[in-house]
Amino acid sequence: MINKCLFPAAGYGTRFLPATKAVPKEMLPILTKPLLQYGVEEALTANITQMAIVTGRGKRAIEDHFDNSFELESQLSGTSKEFYLDEIKAMIEKATFTYVRQRQMLGLGHAILTGESLIGNEPFAVILADDLCDCSGNGVTSQLIKIYNKYQCSVIAIEEIPLTQIERYGVISGDLIDGTNNTYRVANMFEKPNSHDLIKFSEDKVDLNKAPSFMSIIGRYILTPDIFDILRNIKANKNGEIQITDALLAQAKQGRVVAHKIKGKRFDCGSVKGYLEAINHFAKKDGIS
Ligand code: G1P
Repeated sequence: MINKCLFPAAGYGTRFLPATKAVPKEMLPILTKPLLQYGVEEALTANITQMAIVTGRGKRAIEDHFDNSFELESQLSGTSKEFYLDEIKAMIEKATFTYVRQRQMLGLGHAILTGESLIGNEPFAVILADDLCDCSGNGVTSQLIKIYNKYQCSVIAIEEIPLTQIERYGVISGDLIDGTNNTYRVANMFEKPNSHDLIKFSEDKVDLNKAPSFMSIIGRYILTPDIFDILRNIKANKNGEIQITDALLAQAKQGRVVAHKIKGKRFDCGSVKGYLEAINHFAKKDGIS
């Protein structure tokens, strides 16, 4: 059973400044709903009700969003606008929310390790809210849990990413072990490679001029709790960051990581272009034009 979902949400959102100076990037809206709310809804559809959020300074709006708002509720009570609050109120009822603050931004691995006190000793899901996915009812987290139930090891979500964008992602290599469910046993992983790294990573077998895309990690994971001990012992990279990819590589070397190529559409809402694409996608879906 996967009972808890961890949401690393302490990052600065530099690419969205000045919008993110006082507003957490996870609270940027896609139409009327903040990115993080989409993530929480995805976890709920995967039957996860315990949301564990790693926040940081200046992120109080996140806690307020998933809480009652007595003043607003009493102002709207009995008016024709009351229904605007229905959706978020119903959602909050279904889940619990716990928080821990990450005091220093030392990478995604460090953010996940900071969440250990909220997770404890059990397998858990991770959602990076700025990777927004639309999977027609079968969310990526549900897809990963299905794979986890079969293999009982860490599971990562992957997608084919064009070579031109690869420097923003972690890449993986591995063997297909289940064609029907697009599942791979991960053999190797590399975080944010440049073209030189990529050639080395693929053991000189790849002609970069011909390689259109690589299997890359997107922001959804199921992690087994031994990941915390591994993270504690991981050395920071040259940017001073502790990477989850490095910790997963340690598990992968023992054959304990599988990757699932997701079914659905993902938007990189960490970039302005991806964010705009997501807004257009959901507007079209809602018949707004
Ligand atoms: C993180 C991971 C990276 C992954 C990406 C997906 O990077 O470290 O492996 O490909 O999320 O969005 P970040 O975007 O936090 O720099």
